[in-house]
Amino acid sequence: MNRQPNDFARPSVARVFDHLLGGSDNYAADRALAQRLAQIAPELPDMIRINADHGPRAVATLASDLGIRQYLDLGCGLPAGLYGHRTPHEVARAVHGTARVVYVDSDPVVYGHANMVLAEEPGTAALRADIREMDALLGAPAVRALNRSEPIGVLLHDVLLWVTDDEALTVLETLRAWLPAGSAISLTHATADAAPQMMRDLTSCYAEAGITYRPRSRHHIRALLDPWAPTPPGIVPIPQWRAAEHLRHLPATGHAHAHAAVVRERTRAPDEPRGAGTERSQPAAP
Ligand SMILES: C[S@@+](CC[C@H](N)C(=O)[O-])C[C@H]1O[C@@H](n2cnc3c(N)ncnc32)[C@H](O)[C@@H]1O
Repeated sequence: MNRQPNDFARPSVARVFDHLLGGSDNYAADRALAQRLAQIAPELPDMIRINADHGPRAVATLASDLGIRQYLDLGCGLPAGLYGHRTPHEVARAVHGTARVVYVDSDPVVYGHANMVLAEEPGTAALRADIREMDALLGAPAVRALNRSEPIGVLLHDVLLWVTDDEALTVLETLRAWLPAGSAISLTHATADAAPQMMRDLTSCYAEAGITYRPRSRHHIRALLDPWAPTPPGIVPIPQWRAAEHLRHLPATGHAHAHAAVVRERTRAPDEPRGAGTERSQPAAP
């Protein structure tokens, strides 16, 4: 995809978040929207940092507990190193020295950064692609280079909420059909469960800027992930996910306004067709 002249006149999620995290990869339109959002939700920078803190913990779990050595990071955002976080390939390689990661984002600035940062990192690749066009995304050479005879970990961290319900469902259905056995999907997703009015106001503010923002209830997130089964502790607020004591940025309210989960295909009997699981998923978290 080529950069369009008006790419920077409209706010982009990656650059709005960059501004809220104190970064410098943003433009006037991004900063203006960030300021309006922060007036509605003063805890927004903390919410973003909680999500960013979660990424390395999720990858460490996929690499250590599930033995996953290759990753597809969808909606990867600007490189985590800009904000003092370890990148997915650094975390995965601490467990598996040759782990591979394909970083995917639709934003031209994110792609440019990723491409530059990853140029000297063998086994990594950057791809500019849109999750609303999954066939093109999965057909790109960087993704096709992943080894589909072994499990792949897909990171869907804070990305599905930027697409409509139908688009989110298509993303997950396409991934479930494409992923090899033993794969896992790690998800974080904003929710309105704890503060419905604040999230409605954020949604309206994003909409005025032409950006789809779709926080979803835990029940809705569960429906999107079904029939794959959440691994313990299930679908829970990010601070309740595993080893959450390492989170550095809990807001005073203690709520991240986002859920986290890792899901895998349910265990099947040898003669059962794919998708017909026998294992019960985790009970609902409070
Ligand atoms: C909030 S950031 C999340 C970054 C990172 N995954 C994390 O958890 O910190 C959302 C990212 O998703 C990207 N994004 C939004 N919609 C997208 C789409 N339809 N296809 C691909 N990337 C998208 C944005 O450009 C942005 O970089």
